[in-house]
Amino acid sequence: MSASTTPALPDRARAFRDAMATFPSGVTIVTTSDPEGRWWGFTATSFCSVSMQPPLVLVCLAETAECHPVFQQAEQWIVHVIHPEHADLALRFATRGADKFADAGFVADDEGLPRLPNACVTLYCTRHAAHPGGDHTILLGEVRETVLGEHLPAVYFRRRFHPLSHV
Ligand SMILES: Cc1cc2nc3c(=O)[nH]c(=O)nc-3n(C[C@H](O)[C@H](O)[C@H](O)COP(=O)(O)O)c2cc1C
Repeated sequence: MSASTTPALPDRARAFRDAMATFPSGVTIVTTSDPEGRWWGFTATSFCSVSMQPPLVLVCLAETAECHPVFQQAEQWIVHVIHPEHADLALRFATRGADKFADAGFVADDEGLPRLPNACVTLYCTRHAAHPGGDHTILLGEVRETVLGEHLPAVYFRRRFHPLSHV
């Protein structure tokens, strides 16, 4: 690559972030419980399906996240695809140190993990693998159960939440 297409950091980092912000994506809130039964979660757009047989999905979690050690060890987690009314909740789950589960309507599933009842899609995952990916960890989960809700999902584009229309 020429110098003109390879700007130095932090310009390169900014350009990368801006490029990623122009890729519209759904938004997920990923939750789990630690061995003491405490609930943890974070907002993620880095969600993607990986495999059909077995059914695998991935989500990438920054190594700097407070919840990283918990997810690194977790045997199960839940991926919730959220809708536009969850935008404030998604921002809360993107805020380090926030009281993420307070008055948000989460309930314990059969395993004691926090489940958001009215998500667009709920994917119950069992740990398949965790791989290093730069400064993130790629959490690969096998989907053992899927619940489809009735809402249309939120779309995150240019750092804002948007409703889906014309579908
Ligand atoms: C729309 C949106 C999407 C995000 N996607 C990711 C993601 O895919 N992976 C990630 O590690 N952090 C992502 N973040 C940031 C985390 O949600 C945030 O850093 C969170 O607070 C990390 O967990 P912690 O509170 O335990 O540190 C995203 C934030 C927003 C607002």
